[in-house]
Amino acid sequence: MLKISDTEDVIFSPELLSKFAEIVSRYPEGRQKSALLPILHLVQAQYGWVSSIAMDKVADYLELKPIEVYEVATFYTMFFLKPQGKYVLEVCRTGPCSIVGAERIMKYIENKLQVKEGEVTEDGLFSWRGVECLAACGMAPVLQIGPDYTYYENLTEAKIDELIDSLRLKTVDKPQIN
Ligand code: FES
Repeated sequence: MLKISDTEDVIFSPELLSKFAEIVSRYPEGRQKSALLPILHLVQAQYGWVSSIAMDKVADYLELKPIEVYEVATFYTMFFLKPQGKYVLEVCRTGPCSIVGAERIMKYIENKLQVKEGEVTEDGLFSWRGVECLAACGMAPVLQIGPDYTYYENLTEAKIDELIDSLRLKTVDKPQIN
């Protein structure tokens, strides 16, 4: 994943542009706006978030007004509008998960990572946030981790320790590409 700041210019690679073109080709002529959501997903997969500069470039590419892109990106909570950690822990905080300890789990993660919701750890590895139902209520409490959205269920503090420690070790073995 390429890391960019909120003021950094964004130049889409030829590979990314060819994926954009393939998506646009799925829709009738003049309906390129329909490609907006999948293209924003590709941008987020590439950079870890969707900056305003990247949104402007997407608007140019799709011949849309920038506001049309901002409206979509700000409506869907799956798009990150500021830089995130390499791993984003998304903890379900809806009813069933809440009843069995989602708040306690979020507090534990906050203390363990020493960052508040939406912030990024100093090493750039982690951020976390509460999200709505992840559709795994029978295994509550639950979290998912981006970028590949793996689920972790029946969470306990010990499982959180194990999970975060294993992600740290994995990154030591395979250094992050900036
Ligand atoms: Fe947490 Fe549904 S309430 S997964």
